[in-house]
Amino acid sequence: MLYVGIDLGTSAVKLLLMDETGKIHKIVSREYDLAFPHPGWSEQKPEDWYAQSIDGLKELLSECDKSKVAGISFGGQMHGLVILDKDDNVIRPAILWNDGRTTKETDYLNNVIGKDKLSEYTANIAFTGFTAPKILWVKANEPENFARIEKIMLPKDYLAYKLSGVHCTDVSDASGMLLFDVKNRCWSKEMMEICDVKESQLAKIFESYEVVGTLKPDVASELGLSTDVKIVAGAGDNAAAAVGTGTVGDGRCNISLGTSGTIFISSKTFGVDSNNALHSFAHADGSYHLMGCMLSAASCNKWWMEDIIDTKDFAGEQKAIDKLGENHVFFLPYLMGERSPINDPYARGTFTGITMDTTRADMTQAVLEGVAFALRDSFEVAKSLGIKIERTKICGGGAKSPLWKKMIANILGIKVDVIESEEGPGYGGAMLAAVACGEFASVEEAAQKLVKVVDTVEPDAELTAKYEARYQQYKQIYPALKPVFKALA
Ligand code: XUL
Repeated sequence: MLYVGIDLGTSAVKLLLMDETGKIHKIVSREYDLAFPHPGWSEQKPEDWYAQSIDGLKELLSECDKSKVAGISFGGQMHGLVILDKDDNVIRPAILWNDGRTTKETDYLNNVIGKDKLSEYTANIAFTGFTAPKILWVKANEPENFARIEKIMLPKDYLAYKLSGVHCTDVSDASGMLLFDVKNRCWSKEMMEICDVKESQLAKIFESYEVVGTLKPDVASELGLSTDVKIVAGAGDNAAAAVGTGTVGDGRCNISLGTSGTIFISSKTFGVDSNNALHSFAHADGSYHLMGCMLSAASCNKWWMEDIIDTKDFAGEQKAIDKLGENHVFFLPYLMGERSPINDPYARGTFTGITMDTTRADMTQAVLEGVAFALRDSFEVAKSLGIKIERTKICGGGAKSPLWKKMIANILGIKVDVIESEEGPGYGGAMLAAVACGEFASVEEAAQKLVKVVDTVEPDAELTAKYEARYQQYKQIYPALKPVFKALA
């Protein structure tokens, strides 16, 4: 049978066709616009997601035996607020995960309601990108839109709704709304009250590997598929990527280098970081995970390459980098403010230490290293909780760079396992569809059977020591600039 995984990302939707042996038959990608209507704001049109997904699906399925397609599932950008009116019209563009407009609402939630209460109700505190502060923002700033809200949903759930007609979500993605009681895997009554939201406006909750419905007849006929095709809840992109890299069960780690950068640690048991620097979310395998999320990761490199030095030859630029661990330039990767672990929407990107002899390669190197240092910040929080991590999987666009993987292995001092397919969320989505259709007894079984490690990047003692010294220097930059960022905001 064939399974479709839809990775609804921030720069594009990637669609992947997989069979029951895990073989990828085809990958198709479609881009859409990302709007920054004000500095720090970030929006997309849900209608574009759907139109491009349908267009992509048509190409994806153009050469296969369509009667073999059994299920479709998703990995979606998390936290985005999608609101529909009573006629199912999208009320306003979606406010995305990396949008920083809700500083006032986030302060209200964290300081007036209080972090302790939020953590008790949801296992997390408020971050500007989370969904609940965005609902409060719409209420305060667009009351006419707020009054029209019939359905609240997350980005990938908008696709599931359009395909199946079921207003659904899954436990991993719901975890990032700050409306969800992560421990008990249900909506939080207290949070609904605080956010002036009714349960009827929220989606029905599923485990990520559960069937929510089947393809609606009109969509089935447009795609040439049967109405028996199952639509499966899917997961937030990080949990889906974790499934796709086999990061399931207890104590496994995955790093994703996409638009965002995440460090994801799977756990059989529920747990909370007492400082809430790491998110505590439900996992797509039926258990839990901790996660640090930086808002700009591979996007820093993309910005530097395409917008500043004006090249598409990422690999060519990296060839000129030959002195790892000895760069005198540092880069803070806070181009959209930062979430984990510093939680500072006012933070900004900087280069520090530039001199007359600084080269373009030094600056490119600093960008790649800055992202790895910032990931190390979240890694340190995990270590401080007593979590021992000796190796990690890696996925996302940035994982295609051998140099970046080497930096990560040496800056974090851990082994980096490279898997056959770096298509994290799309592959994980297809795997969830396969589990839901009965191909595997559990997500863990699917991961054991389908995910293959093909190489391991080992840290080198000398380089790790050099990077340790540089990390200690890097760590001094943000605290020194923090008041400046706030003053400049
Ligand atoms: C996770 C997060 C990002 C988005 C990116 O908390 O905000 O990783 O899911 O798609």
